[in-house]
Amino acid sequence: MANLQDSLLADLEDLSDNDNENLDEDNGDAEHMEEDINRDLADIEVLNYDDLDSVSILIGSTTSLAGGAAKELMIRLDSRNWHRYIESAMAAKPIIKVVAICGSLRKASYHRGLLRSAIELSESIDGMSIEYLDISPLPMLNTDLEVDGKYPPVVEAFRQKILHSDCFLFASPEYNYSITALLKNAIDWASRPPNVWANKAAAILSVGGSFGGGLAQYHLRQVGVFLDLHFINKPEFYLNAFQPPAKFDDDGNLIDPDAKERLKLVLLSLNAFTLRLQQDD
Ligand SMILES: Cc1cc2nc3c(=O)[nH]c(=O)nc-3n(C[C@H](O)[C@H](O)[C@H](O)COP(=O)(O)O)c2cc1C
Repeated sequence: MANLQDSLLADLEDLSDNDNENLDEDNGDAEHMEEDINRDLADIEVLNYDDLDSVSILIGSTTSLAGGAAKELMIRLDSRNWHRYIESAMAAKPIIKVVAICGSLRKASYHRGLLRSAIELSESIDGMSIEYLDISPLPMLNTDLEVDGKYPPVVEAFRQKILHSDCFLFASPEYNYSITALLKNAIDWASRPPNVWANKAAAILSVGGSFGGGLAQYHLRQVGVFLDLHFINKPEFYLNAFQPPAKFDDDGNLIDPDAKERLKLVLLSLNAFTLRLQQDD
């Protein structure tokens, strides 16, 4: 596969030769675009990721990478040859299996709503599949339930799902500045020997009051240290659900377009980071 940067530069030449008129109409000055793209290519080089991973990383990092220029590069790739890059990348890449876990039992839980949205959004991401895993049937952890080195069947089934996934998407409500008992209970069961969380990537979503559940996210990250979980750092996803306009409908479905866009960037970043972690192994 040709080096991504060469391909991008080739596209750039195309762009100057053939598309200047359209470009000028749609997006302004082609020369400025060229400068922007070159600057972004330099950023990719600094990041030192291989070929197509650079593009996924770029997408996952639009908030930190060369600001608007990075976003424009994405849009340009999207409208031109982006599908070509994605197709060749995915041909060489496995499907990333994400297990999604919700820390709330509430029927119209906002957090479960976020996960429904994530599953829907993931359908447009090649190479990623998200499975919702219900943790409500798990008993409260009690090591007396471990008999002859075996876990209760419902716990064993849960542990197997965790073991055979590539990464995790936690939707973690904040209860009194921490994660919920429900979520901690599930985490603890899967941490029993052998710890089936180890060396996997994870991302956190939260909804709450003024901090958007951010304090629970930091508690979850702290728990993840001992579990050997590797959380993505960017982009972060916090959402204040208690200020207008409404972010969810009465059934807990996410209805906020901006939040959906941010959620998709989290998924892309988790996807890219999981691939990176697996490549390094
Ligand atoms: C016991 C309890 C403690 C809470 N503590 C916090 C808190 O510390 N910070 C916060 O932002 N929201 C707090 N909340 C509000 C939750 O964030 C809110 O109910 C949220 O919608 C729960 O997620 P869910 O909709 O997925 O059930 C608390 C709610 C409960 C029931």
